[in-house]
Amino acid sequence: MSYFDKELDAIKKANIYRKRELFDSELIDFASNDYLGLSTNKKIFNKSCRYLTKQRYFSPKASTMVNGYHKIHKKLEKLLCDMNGFEDGIIVGSGFLANIAMFESMPRNNDMLLLDENYHASGLMASKLSKGKVGVFKHNDIEELESLLIQYHNKYNKIIVAAEGVYSMSGDMANPKIYSLCNKYKCMLIVDEAHSSGVIGKNLNGWFDYNNFEIKENHIKMATFSKAYGSYGAYILSTKQTISYLENRAKPVIYSTALSLFDTAYAYFAIRYIKKNKQKINKKINKIQNIVKEKLNIDMPALILPIEQNTNKSTKYIQQKLKKHKFLVGAIRQPTVKKPIIRIIPKLNIKLMSFKAILDIIKHTIKTKEKI
Ligand SMILES: Cc1ncc(COP(=O)(O)O)c(C=O)c1O
Repeated sequence: MSYFDKELDAIKKANIYRKRELFDSELIDFASNDYLGLSTNKKIFNKSCRYLTKQRYFSPKASTMVNGYHKIHKKLEKLLCDMNGFEDGIIVGSGFLANIAMFESMPRNNDMLLLDENYHASGLMASKLSKGKVGVFKHNDIEELESLLIQYHNKYNKIIVAAEGVYSMSGDMANPKIYSLCNKYKCMLIVDEAHSSGVIGKNLNGWFDYNNFEIKENHIKMATFSKAYGSYGAYILSTKQTISYLENRAKPVIYSTALSLFDTAYAYFAIRYIKKNKQKINKKINKIQNIVKEKLNIDMPALILPIEQNTNKSTKYIQQKLKKHKFLVGAIRQPTVKKPIIRIIPKLNIKLMSFKAILDIIKHTIKTKEKI
């Protein structure tokens, strides 16, 4: 059978063919989003296991709206609300589902959803399910966003603006002026903090924390447990009313099984670990950021280092070459990004010596413009 011959050939010709792969575990992992290295933390793992063995059942069995809501879900939601300063929160199966939950259900007829053009694929896709009107603004372009808000704020019942705290591919932060613009025009503001929670801010809580922003009723924070928290799943924080609305209208909340109890417990103990060690972690992050500045003269606001490449083909080539040096990096190609990048994640559990070594190779390629 050859149902997809043409499509797969076209994908291969464009050098964007993907394949899931088991990478050699001996490679030094600069490719995953496990920013703090907590996915390998034995203490967090053991605590999660001990917690689970004391439970009467070990999997959620149903949606939280049936009987899948477990006390560990509730405990984690409370912890997240307290540390981020939100009134209420809900755990969702994944970040992808969280974006579908919000964007499908929240913009109603006569509402407008405005997304940063670089918002995650799950949000852009989910916006197509929305009943409201959808628009995008140029990445972090405050003038364009304000002109759209001037144009639309009297025309629509409500406007929802969506940005990422730290952008997953470019590694830069959302423009802080978005916060004041949304307050000025009385818009709701959704911030996807998948890559900022656990990485930026005095308390390592992300973009709101980094900017010392007061949490108001127009704010929604969404983030995942699958990055800095070393686990899996996601959460949405907002007012009691907004969370209640999601419980009643968001299909991934109502019709999908609750997050696994192990992942929930792992996220709970990982977050408690981060809270306890935040000064030490912040120091380590600053150290890594300073090394990038020293070696490459690049400001890296979080823990994502994108190195722009010319073509999809050369990006893949460089990834393969780095593998020969025992380094595993992300080769992110079009159309995921406008310009292909080698994406390096300096996880905190990687030895600084290895990080300096990969930066030296990168520096050499930038300087000589030659392929590695
Ligand atoms: C910014 C952003 N939002 C949402 C998601 C989706 O999260 P999840 O992997 O938990 O589905 C990701 C990627 O994983 C992401 O990078």
